[in-house]
Amino acid sequence: TRLRSSSASSQSHLLRRSYSSDSVPERKVAVLGAAGGIGQPLSLLMKLNPLVSKLALYDIAGTPGVAADVSHVNTRSEVAGYAGEEQLGKALEGSDIVIIPAGVPRKPGMTRDDLFNINAGIVKSLCTAIAKYCPNALVNMISNPVNSTVPIAAEVFKKAGTYDEKKLFGVTTLDVVRAKTFYAGKAKVPVEEVNVPVVGGHAGITILPLFSQAVPKANLADEDIKALTKRTQDGGTEVVEAKAGKGSATLSMAYAGALFADACLKGLNGVPDVVECTFVQSSVTELPFFASKVKLGKNGVEEVLELGPMSDYEKQGLQNLIPELKASIEKGIKFANQ
Ligand code: NAD
Ligand code: LMR
Repeated sequence: TRLRSSSASSQSHLLRRSYSSDSVPERKVAVLGAAGGIGQPLSLLMKLNPLVSKLALYDIAGTPGVAADVSHVNTRSEVAGYAGEEQLGKALEGSDIVIIPAGVPRKPGMTRDDLFNINAGIVKSLCTAIAKYCPNALVNMISNPVNSTVPIAAEVFKKAGTYDEKKLFGVTTLDVVRAKTFYAGKAKVPVEEVNVPVVGGHAGITILPLFSQAVPKANLADEDIKALTKRTQDGGTEVVEAKAGKGSATLSMAYAGALFADACLKGLNGVPDVVECTFVQSSVTELPFFASKVKLGKNGVEEVLELGPMSDYEKQGLQNLIPELKASIEKGIKFANQ
């Protein structure tokens, strides 16, 4: 009996193994800037994601320690750390998704655009390497200013002949996370039931939450909607000021970045109806890039969804954000083509 039961149990173990490897494809995720304030908790959250089989942690320094630490977590993925430019190729090779939280964060008094001078160069060189080592990967751009770094990435990929507009995403999930939290608090509805689209871009007034489309519905006063909109637009600044010189959002951003990467993985794996707001190449407005609801699929963007019905206040917000977002996009394109 003992023999039989042990062989039965090893058989069911084998069955389980073959079932799990058949149903969950191998997926490699690389995090560039993995030793940073966002990079470390994001690496941990990606290690917790059962859809990841290989996790490559890259930074200019410090990644061996982060990788050794994260690798002890008893989940599916194999973790490797890569430090310094000479190891960037190895980190990227074979990646299905590359998440980029590399670059400097804001201090009080700065705008995201004040980060352009340093971060534009970092993003340009990282994207040059992506074009070379994993041109088919989905790129999740977190580095600020997102309104410019995404156009920079697109130009770098175009020059390399690898650009696929379906595979480049500016991560604006934190705006959605904030809008949901603030709305739930004000409307007194359970936060886990809330959904709010946030469109436009990722800086100040270019962040446009569409509370008129929020679910569950709540009859909030116009002043409440205005206050919620402003708080969502200034959410990053709220954290920058509270951290008083020690950087910007890292923990909530890691959470948001992990949510967005998980949605991309699900899309790649063929899960139907995965929809997230993200900043992508778009023809929803006159601007070449715009954040809106996007359906994710096996090749990345499957469909960029229309903005849907908006209140007069939101329509005005859309008109107001166009010039600033346009200028930020053009600044990125110009930089990449210098
Ligand atoms: P951080 O300074 O704590 O970490 C940045 C990391 O990037 C560091 O470890 C640094 O060594 C690394 N780095 C610098 N140059 C690099 C290069 N060439 N290659 C690889 N790694 C490199 O900063 P943070 O708080 O983690 O923020 C990172 C970026 O994310 C900032 O630009 C910040 O503004 C942005 N951010 C975006 C959002 C968003 O919603 N999209 C939210 C929060 C922060
Ligand atoms: C955020 O929204 O928290 C980030 O873009 C970081 C910042 O500078 O505000």
